[in-house]
Amino acid sequence: MKKNHTIKQISNKSRILLFFAIVFIGGALIFNYSWASSSSSSSTFASIHYNWVREKNDLVTLPNFFNATDKIASFKGQKDEIPERLLSGTFADLPAPETEWEEMAPAPVPRLDGASIQINDLFFVFSGYRNLDHVHSHVDVYNFTSNKWEEGFATPKQMANSHLGMATDGRYIYVVSGQQGPQCRTPPVAETFVLDTQTRKWQSFPPLPEPRYAPATQVWRGRLHVMGGGKENRHTPSLDHWSIAVKNGKPLEKTWRKEVPIPRGGPHRACVAVGDRLYVIGGQEGDFMPKPGSPIFKCSRRHEVIYGDVYMLDDKMKWHTLPPMPKPDSHIEASWVVLNNSIVIAGGTTEKNPVTKRMILVGELFQFDLDSKKWHVIGKLPYRVKTTQAAYWNGWFYITSGQRDKGPDNPQPRKVVADLWRTKLRL
Ligand SMILES: *[C@@H]1O[C@H](CO)[C@@H](O)[C@H](O)[C@H]1NC(C)=O
Ligand SMILES: *[C@@H]1O[C@H](CO)[C@@H](O)[C@H](O)[C@H]1NC(C)=O
Ligand SMILES: *[C@@H]1O[C@H](CO)[C@@H](O)[C@H](O)[C@H]1NC(C)=O
Repeated sequence: MKKNHTIKQISNKSRILLFFAIVFIGGALIFNYSWASSSSSSSTFASIHYNWVREKNDLVTLPNFFNATDKIASFKGQKDEIPERLLSGTFADLPAPETEWEEMAPAPVPRLDGASIQINDLFFVFSGYRNLDHVHSHVDVYNFTSNKWEEGFATPKQMANSHLGMATDGRYIYVVSGQQGPQCRTPPVAETFVLDTQTRKWQSFPPLPEPRYAPATQVWRGRLHVMGGGKENRHTPSLDHWSIAVKNGKPLEKTWRKEVPIPRGGPHRACVAVGDRLYVIGGQEGDFMPKPGSPIFKCSRRHEVIYGDVYMLDDKMKWHTLPPMPKPDSHIEASWVVLNNSIVIAGGTTEKNPVTKRMILVGELFQFDLDSKKWHVIGKLPYRVKTTQAAYWNGWFYITSGQRDKGPDNPQPRKVVADLWRTKLRL
């Protein structure tokens, strides 16, 4: 009886000690966080960073067990206690050469799930989410020669804001279907528009036969091709493939033509034309869906399969399967450039962590050599990031926007960023 009493006293004492420890650590973290957020407004223009830039609030380094933030989070689910970095598998970071990045002027707004097209020294970055409750409806333009963001301009009212299919012929930008509005709004819109980048005027275009979320889209051999994507419920992968002849921003046909279906469906893939070949890379089956009955179409997580498949369509309209990416990768529709007969892809999302089931971001820079058909990991991004917008100009590879990770040791998605980075790239 007495013994039990003593044990109880000791454990009470240690509970009190633990409580004070947590309060102290929590206070330190809060102080550190407010310091970090107030000092980060003096934003860095053209400062050099190596990759895995540490968040400033990581300065307090504590063993995970005493991480006050984790302790609070663990009341919601024990999963947060498992350190992500100790898990290996397809979702783990791959060994990659250190890469030096230069931070440039950030975009006027942070954006996630936006889209972009580069035309010579201008980079047109479209719409996207500010956060789940707010979407943008304008285009920001960066000039790689002056290294400045120019004044933006509005998109048409009926145009979707995210999950757009997008491609260019070098002057006109075709903006196909997508999601209009915030959260996980269904169904998508089929409306399609054309932007003349010289006059900055918009025109309408024959709508897609059925609306799609984030379909693979490219101008190839005189036709605008649209394939895959998510169907009207936002989740079911589509295999459909349509095309329409285009010239100088105008359709040459009245309706879209049915083409040979893509071998695997789904949204968020890179779609790249090089000569008489069309490549569709990575992507996923399934996506978030609106919560049943939610008037604001609140996003709710569904089963997703991320894959690294590479499909190539030849000039005889036959699909070929090529070696897959070094790891499954999705949310890369605007995260690529073509350079010296290689496709370079930055970041994305990979398979979820098998234990915590959390979404895992990708921080590598990949090269797919079209001569050897081999993949290489050629660099590390400043942080892991999904739906980053990539461009290449005058020896520099650029990325802007997207949703970055929680920090070097935590690949889960957190902040939606406006950052613009560049690194010297030669292949
Ligand atoms: C503590 O938790 C926060 C929030 O989950 C995380 O960003 C941070 O990296 C953790 N710190 C350590 C040392 O594990
Ligand atoms: C980009 O900026 C440079 C330097 O100010 C300017 O000469 C050039 O015309 C701009 N490019 C375009 C396409 O406007
Ligand atoms: C492209 O390849 C050639 C030949 O290997 C090389 O000289 C050139 O620097 C490369 N260009 C870029 C932009 O990587």
